[in-house]
Amino acid sequence: MKKVKAKIIGTGSYLPEKVLSNQDLERMVETSDEWIVSRTGMKERRIARDDEYTSDMGASAARLAISDAGLEAEDIDFILVATLTPDYLFPSTACLIQNAIGAKRASGADIQAACTGYLYLLMMAKSFVESGVYKNVLVVAAEKLSSITNYKDRSTCVLFGDGAAACVVSSEGKGLSVESIQLGSDGEQSNLIIMPAGGCRLPASQETVAEGQHYIKMAGNEVFKHAVRRMETACKECLNAAGITEQEVSWLIPHQANMRIIDAIAKRFEHLPPERIFKTVQKYGNTSASSVGIALDELLKTAPLKQGEQILLTAFGAGLTWGAGILRAE
Ligand code: UT7
Repeated sequence: MKKVKAKIIGTGSYLPEKVLSNQDLERMVETSDEWIVSRTGMKERRIARDDEYTSDMGASAARLAISDAGLEAEDIDFILVATLTPDYLFPSTACLIQNAIGAKRASGADIQAACTGYLYLLMMAKSFVESGVYKNVLVVAAEKLSSITNYKDRSTCVLFGDGAAACVVSSEGKGLSVESIQLGSDGEQSNLIIMPAGGCRLPASQETVAEGQHYIKMAGNEVFKHAVRRMETACKECLNAAGITEQEVSWLIPHQANMRIIDAIAKRFEHLPPERIFKTVQKYGNTSASSVGIALDELLKTAPLKQGEQILLTAFGAGLTWGAGILRAE
């Protein structure tokens, strides 16, 4: 029997209209455009409306991905959602998106792998499709990070933005084959990026709210070092697993956490020219799980790939979690 190969047959993304610029942030905390640009490479990020939620952004990206795939919502068998800012702790954002887009036949669930969420979902979608369990899996990464960002904490509030990305992974149709995915995690470092309250350890109370425990806390310096090392290793392991060299990669799409992290990774791949490293960090900031998916959609819409071209994706985030994946244009 011929081996089924999972392919991304459609992509989509959604960015809210409202722009939060470095100049806006200068008016909110003690910071400067110069500091933000030189330490992060970020100039702007997008912020969702008060009445616009993770499921709305996810549903918008999902509709575009399904239409790009030439499918209808009823063709979707399973919806996988990655987010650390779900509309509710329950019900799942996957169920809200299922209802919003009218994917009546689909089941779905949320997965929490922070900024590595898109790659974790690609691995799961590939496994579902290649094992024959499902034909069409909808992958959605969506974040309303502005809802858990402390706009009084200058060390984190300049970094994050809102947005969503989606793709359809299928056994049929033409697109990007999901060649190899490598994932990793290290729970020993779980305190490095964390939202302390809101779970069963510290349920919401007047104290947790007063202490600002419902916001992202990050040990930026420590996380920076792990991010570079883990993404480099994941990429190299992924290239080895796929049996290809970095010379055979047309584009690297890294997690858009910080331009300096991207540059540090780029230095470790001497055969990948800088213009082949796709960046959106300057305009969208860090959109966590959505970051790699938004960049992938933008790359495919602006610089369509030729047959045989390969893309290397990599991401890193809270958990700690990390991963890399190779996609090949058919
Ligand atoms: O998506 C999940 C993965 N996340 C990441 O990978 C993020 C990784 N970390 C980073 O990107 C960087 O560590 C940051 C951008 C968060 C911070 O950059 P840094 O170069 O590591 O700065 P730092 O934390 O060492 O801070 C240097 C100085 C400090 O002042 P002192 O103590 O030296 O006087 C900070 O208080 O910069 C100060 N600072 C700021 N100054 C102006 C921190 N934030 C700001 C700010 N504006 N927004």
